[in-house]
Amino acid sequence: MKSHLILIGYMGSGKSTLGCAVSYPLQQCFIDTDKWIEQKEGLTVSEIFATHGEAYFRQKETDCLKAMLLECAPRVLALGGGTPLRAENRELIKKLGFTVYLKAEPDTIYERLKDDTTRPLLQCDNPRERIRLMIAERDPIYREAADFILRVDDWDLRRLVNELQEAYGHEIAGD
Ligand code: S3P
Repeated sequence: MKSHLILIGYMGSGKSTLGCAVSYPLQQCFIDTDKWIEQKEGLTVSEIFATHGEAYFRQKETDCLKAMLLECAPRVLALGGGTPLRAENRELIKKLGFTVYLKAEPDTIYERLKDDTTRPLLQCDNPRERIRLMIAERDPIYREAADFILRVDDWDLRRLVNELQEAYGHEIAGD
């Protein structure tokens, strides 16, 4: 049996919102790994990118997954959108639990993030095109890492929480 419930997917797919919402009925602690890293570093993700560079941040993501392996009680984890890109992280994710890919179309993401200033990778001249290219590149990786895919373009929080709970419940029950 896999224990933690892990949410992966592109920036703005709703991992933190949905993860937090589903943690209540599941009665499991919720951890947003970006926030976990920010607390440890005493810097925001944007500040970490600006001060130490992306490679440093990516190492912190791996460190975070390793720390999560030591957690005994099942948790709900929302991972940063780039975490599954490292092969080493995908191995750790497999060991950690049941992984759900929150899949959204590029247009959905653009509409959600067009005014966002907290994602350093999207502070560019043409964020719409950047989103399209990055999703095309990452989608096969997210699929490979996932045990289950949940489409989130049609955002109905209650329905998505139920679907997530049901998929995870089957896993826990060993169905
Ligand atoms: C990133 C996603 C972000 C954050 C960082 C890099 C990415 O997390 O980790 O800005 O490479 O997709 P969210 O997916 O929570 O926005």
